[in-house]
Amino acid sequence: MAGPASEAVDLIPETAIVSLDAYRAAGGGAGLAEAHRLGPAAIIDVIARSGLRGRGGGGFPTGRKWSGIAAQTGLRRYLVVNGAEGEPGTFKDRALLRANPYQVVEGMIIAAAAVGAEAVFVGVKGSFQREIEALTRAIQEMQEAGLCHDCTVTVVGGPDEYLFGEEKAMLEVIEGKPPLPRWFPPYEHGLFASSPQEGWEAGPHGSGRRTDEPNPTLVNNIETLANVPHILARGPEWFRSRGTEASPGTVIATVVGDVVAPDVGEVEMGTPLRAVIDAVGSGMAPGRTVKAVFSGVANPVVTAADLDVSVSYEGFESVGSGMGSAGFIVYDDTACMVDAAYRFSRFLSIESCGQCPPCKIGSGEITKLLDKVRSGEGTDHDLAAMGGWLARVTDGNRCFLAVEEQRVVSSVLRAFPEEFAAHVEHQGCPLPGDRPMPKLVDLAGGQASYDENYWRKRPDWTYED
Ligand SMILES: Cc1cc2nc3c(=O)[nH]c(=O)nc-3n(C[C@H](O)[C@H](O)[C@H](O)COP(=O)(O)O)c2cc1C
Ligand code: SF4
Repeated sequence: MAGPASEAVDLIPETAIVSLDAYRAAGGGAGLAEAHRLGPAAIIDVIARSGLRGRGGGGFPTGRKWSGIAAQTGLRRYLVVNGAEGEPGTFKDRALLRANPYQVVEGMIIAAAAVGAEAVFVGVKGSFQREIEALTRAIQEMQEAGLCHDCTVTVVGGPDEYLFGEEKAMLEVIEGKPPLPRWFPPYEHGLFASSPQEGWEAGPHGSGRRTDEPNPTLVNNIETLANVPHILARGPEWFRSRGTEASPGTVIATVVGDVVAPDVGEVEMGTPLRAVIDAVGSGMAPGRTVKAVFSGVANPVVTAADLDVSVSYEGFESVGSGMGSAGFIVYDDTACMVDAAYRFSRFLSIESCGQCPPCKIGSGEITKLLDKVRSGEGTDHDLAAMGGWLARVTDGNRCFLAVEEQRVVSSVLRAFPEEFAAHVEHQGCPLPGDRPMPKLVDLAGGQASYDENYWRKRPDWTYED
């Protein structure tokens, strides 16, 4: 086991690592060597003891996920690496791929070896050209150097839709279909499973039999896997020397919105949110204060009263929210929360795929009602109708998107009732302003650029002219 326990590692080095030689010179490859020495069961044990949790949003314990896949029966297993990064306000996977794609590939090879995956598929949005190039170069170099052994790694460019990042939809895309979540989770119904289809299209296997070859598939986020080589090289105690008991290590936080300089940065888990906003986003403009923070579009709003919450899974849970993928969208005291709820709801209703009618119809109706209220035409009856749709939007849901709609919009209604009342009573917005949905296209040097075409996207995923 290499490296002293106190040694820090920058997941995002200041100077990007652009060759395998440079990666090796910086100590790269030591995790893989240790993994080969240990073998699959011991690798999983090290990851489990490290306490690493998935950085894709859910925070599921990685070691437990890996041992679950390893314990599944089936001829074939696969590893799918989730680099879709569709969560608004999040840029960490792209930052990691730009800065050091080699550690991500090393993490993939270790994960594949641990669960006995015969092939790795990396799902990255086709529009992330720069990241795809960096990743492809790293894979080629590592394959040529013999580091991938007999494991093939294929990069699959996917669509821009938010659902591409949902794991059951990503499997569909890798199989050449649209990003429509299937029913069963990847560990139960994996890639290329020979079973009745559980996706959208009517398949050739209409016999109703259960899966012959379930092909259990491990899905992990890019950042989760970026941590893996360092844990193998330095040991679980090293990883646990930072962060909290329940959320060890560091996290790559993105801070955007009403801050001085939006950016991405690595912070120790357990750091107060207020300090993360200051350290990564350079804080608020003079005279402005934080009104609300959203951790992407999947979790309830965090208000100014909870700004000292620890950036950790348990910290955000303790204030009734979730850390998500640590992409923080900050609103200052001049922001309209009805408008924010409208924009989040519009995003989710457009991105809903419509396989579950209560999700597509409900999120669409909630969005229309929020639009009515924000433009000063709403009534108390509209607010009550919204409550009804929010209660039903998750009925029969295949995936978590419907729950996101319910959690985010309900939380804003609960946290800022006076703002909704003011819109209805005064028939207009007391805090007009224009804040775009932070669907990040680029984030560098304190400048964020958002998808300017997004306002043209329609609920059927086509674009207005
Ligand atoms: C609507 C939706 C979108 C998602 N988008 C992403 C994404 O862009 N990237 C990601 O890693 N996980 C995303 N997830 C979570 C994945 O489904 C999955 O939990 C994750 O990739 C597992 O990896 P982890 O255990 O390493 O966190 C999304 C989930 C939902 C419900
Ligand atoms: S819950 Fe919504 S987004 Fe998810 S599969 Fe159903 S309709 Fe599609």
